[in-house]
Amino acid sequence: MVSLVVNGTAHEIEADLDTPLLYVLRDELGLHGAKYGCGLGQCGACTVMVGDQAVLSCVTPLVALAGKRVTTVEGLGTIEAPGPMQAAFIAEQAAQCGYCIPGMMMRAQALLQRDPDVSDAAIRAHMEPNLCRRGTHMRIVAAIRRAAGEMRTRGA
Ligand code: FES
Repeated sequence: MVSLVVNGTAHEIEADLDTPLLYVLRDELGLHGAKYGCGLGQCGACTVMVGDQAVLSCVTPLVALAGKRVTTVEGLGTIEAPGPMQAAFIAEQAAQCGYCIPGMMMRAQALLQRDPDVSDAAIRAHMEPNLCRRGTHMRIVAAIRRAAGEMRTRGA
Protein backbone atom coordinates (compact mmCIF):
# COMPACT_ATOMS: atom_id res chain seq x y z
CA MET A 1 0.00 0.00 0.00
CA VAL A 2 1.42 3.38 -1.03
CA SER A 3 -0.02 6.73 0.05
CA LEU A 4 0.13 9.60 -2.40
CA VAL A 5 -1.77 12.77 -3.19
CA VAL A 6 -3.03 13.25 -6.73
CA ASN A 7 -4.43 16.62 -7.76
CA GLY A 8 -5.01 17.44 -4.10
CA THR A 9 -6.79 14.21 -3.18
CA ALA A 10 -5.16 11.59 -0.93
CA HIS A 11 -5.12 8.00 -2.19
CA GLU A 12 -3.96 4.65 -0.82
CA ILE A 13 -2.83 2.55 -3.76
CA GLU A 14 -2.61 -1.19 -3.45
CA ALA A 15 -0.49 -2.49 -6.32
CA ASP A 16 2.92 -3.99 -7.03
CA LEU A 17 5.57 -1.50 -6.00
CA ASP A 18 7.11 -1.50 -9.46
CA THR A 19 3.82 -0.56 -11.14
CA PRO A 20 4.43 2.52 -13.29
CA LEU A 21 2.72 5.69 -12.08
CA LEU A 22 1.09 5.99 -15.52
CA TYR A 23 -0.82 2.74 -14.96
CA VAL A 24 -1.87 3.83 -11.48
CA LEU A 25 -3.22 7.12 -12.81
CA ARG A 26 -5.05 5.63 -15.77
CA ASP A 27 -6.17 2.22 -14.48
CA GLU A 28 -6.63 2.77 -10.73
CA LEU A 29 -7.65 6.43 -10.55
CA GLY A 30 -9.38 6.89 -13.91
CA LEU A 31 -7.23 9.88 -14.86
CA HIS A 32 -6.66 9.47 -18.60
CA GLY A 33 -4.92 12.78 -19.34
CA ALA A 34 -1.42 11.32 -19.16
CA LYS A 35 -0.93 9.22 -22.28
CA TYR A 36 0.93 6.01 -23.09
CA GLY A 37 3.23 6.71 -26.00
CA CYS A 38 6.41 4.65 -25.95
CA GLY A 39 6.42 3.25 -22.42
CA LEU A 40 10.19 3.65 -22.47
CA GLY A 41 10.77 7.20 -21.25
CA GLN A 42 11.46 8.50 -24.75
CA CYS A 43 8.45 10.52 -25.92
CA GLY A 44 7.05 12.56 -23.01
CA ALA A 45 3.38 11.74 -23.64
CA CYS A 46 3.07 10.45 -20.08
CA THR A 47 4.59 13.54 -18.36
CA VAL A 48 3.09 14.58 -15.02
CA MET A 49 4.46 16.57 -12.11
CA VAL A 50 5.73 15.03 -8.89
CA GLY A 51 6.20 17.89 -6.48
CA ASP A 52 7.50 20.69 -8.69
CA GLN A 53 9.32 18.42 -11.16
CA ALA A 54 8.17 17.08 -14.51
CA VAL A 55 8.53 13.30 -14.54
CA LEU A 56 7.87 10.55 -17.06
CA SER A 57 5.16 8.53 -15.39
CA CYS A 58 5.70 5.44 -17.59
CA VAL A 59 9.12 4.87 -16.00
CA THR A 60 8.35 6.12 -12.48
CA PRO A 61 7.50 3.20 -10.17
CA LEU A 62 4.86 3.45 -7.50
CA VAL A 63 7.45 2.79 -4.79
CA ALA A 64 9.14 6.12 -5.59
CA LEU A 65 5.97 8.06 -4.84
CA ALA A 66 5.22 7.35 -1.19
CA GLY A 67 3.98 10.56 0.41
CA LYS A 68 4.53 12.55 -2.78
CA ARG A 69 2.24 15.08 -4.43
CA VAL A 70 1.35 14.27 -8.04
CA THR A 71 -0.27 16.70 -10.46
CA THR A 72 -1.76 15.63 -13.78
CA VAL A 73 -3.27 17.73 -16.55
CA GLU A 74 -6.66 17.26 -14.86
CA GLY A 75 -5.24 19.20 -11.91
CA LEU A 76 -4.52 22.32 -13.98
CA GLY A 77 -8.16 23.28 -14.44
CA THR A 78 -11.49 22.11 -15.80
CA ILE A 79 -13.35 22.37 -19.11
CA GLU A 80 -15.50 25.09 -17.55
CA ALA A 81 -12.56 26.88 -15.92
CA PRO A 82 -9.29 26.05 -17.70
CA GLY A 83 -6.10 27.08 -15.96
CA PRO A 84 -3.66 29.51 -17.61
CA MET A 85 -1.68 26.74 -19.30
CA GLN A 86 -4.76 25.04 -20.70
CA ALA A 87 -6.29 28.35 -21.82
CA ALA A 88 -3.06 29.30 -23.61
CA PHE A 89 -2.90 26.01 -25.52
CA ILE A 90 -6.53 26.49 -26.60
CA ALA A 91 -5.97 30.12 -27.61
CA GLU A 92 -2.91 29.22 -29.71
CA GLN A 93 -4.63 26.14 -31.18
CA ALA A 94 -1.47 24.23 -30.25
CA ALA A 95 -2.94 20.75 -30.69
CA GLN A 96 -3.29 18.86 -33.92
CA CYS A 97 -4.14 15.28 -32.90
CA GLY A 98 -3.60 16.36 -29.28
CA TYR A 99 -2.06 13.12 -28.01
CA CYS A 100 1.14 14.77 -26.79
CA ILE A 101 -0.50 17.90 -25.40
CA PRO A 102 -1.22 16.86 -21.76
CA GLY A 103 2.43 15.88 -21.38
CA MET A 104 3.55 19.11 -23.05
CA MET A 105 1.40 21.14 -20.67
CA MET A 106 2.74 19.39 -17.59
CA ARG A 107 6.39 19.81 -18.59
CA ALA A 108 5.74 23.48 -19.36
CA GLN A 109 3.86 23.94 -16.09
CA ALA A 110 6.87 22.70 -14.13
CA LEU A 111 9.06 25.24 -15.94
CA LEU A 112 6.77 28.23 -15.50
CA GLN A 113 6.01 27.50 -11.84
CA ARG A 114 9.76 27.85 -11.21
CA ASP A 115 10.24 30.87 -13.46
CA PRO A 116 7.48 32.41 -15.60
CA ASP A 117 10.02 34.91 -16.96
CA VAL A 118 11.68 32.53 -19.42
CA SER A 119 13.15 33.05 -22.87
CA ASP A 120 12.05 31.15 -25.97
CA ALA A 121 15.43 29.43 -25.96
CA ALA A 122 14.87 28.25 -22.39
CA ILE A 123 11.39 27.02 -23.29
CA ARG A 124 12.74 25.05 -26.27
CA ALA A 125 15.56 23.51 -24.22
CA HIS A 126 13.22 22.54 -21.38
CA MET A 127 10.65 20.99 -23.74
CA GLU A 128 13.26 18.90 -25.58
CA PRO A 129 12.20 15.53 -24.03
CA ASN A 130 8.59 15.90 -25.26
CA LEU A 131 7.87 15.01 -28.87
CA CYS A 132 4.99 16.02 -31.14
CA ARG A 133 4.73 13.75 -34.16
CA ARG A 134 2.41 16.22 -35.90
CA GLY A 135 5.03 18.97 -35.74
CA THR A 136 3.14 21.69 -33.88
CA HIS A 137 6.17 22.68 -31.83
CA MET A 138 6.03 26.34 -32.95
CA ARG A 139 2.46 26.67 -31.68
CA ILE A 140 3.35 24.84 -28.50
CA VAL A 141 6.16 27.33 -27.81
CA ALA A 142 3.74 30.19 -28.55
CA ALA A 143 1.23 28.70 -26.10
CA ILE A 144 3.84 28.38 -23.38
CA ARG A 145 4.93 31.98 -23.99
CA ARG A 146 1.28 33.07 -23.69
CA ALA A 147 0.83 31.06 -20.48
CA ALA A 148 4.01 32.62 -19.07
CA GLY A 149 2.60 36.09 -19.71
CA GLU A 150 -0.66 35.18 -17.97
CA MET A 151 1.16 33.63 -15.01
CA ARG A 152 3.40 36.71 -14.67
CA THR A 153 0.28 38.92 -14.67
CA ARG A 154 -1.43 36.77 -12.04
CA GLY A 155 1.72 36.74 -9.91
CA ALA A 156 2.05 40.51 -10.08
FE1 FES B 1 6.39 7.73 -21.15
FE2 FES B 1 6.78 7.79 -23.83
S1 FES B 1 5.06 7.00 -22.69
S2 FES B 1 7.99 8.71 -22.25
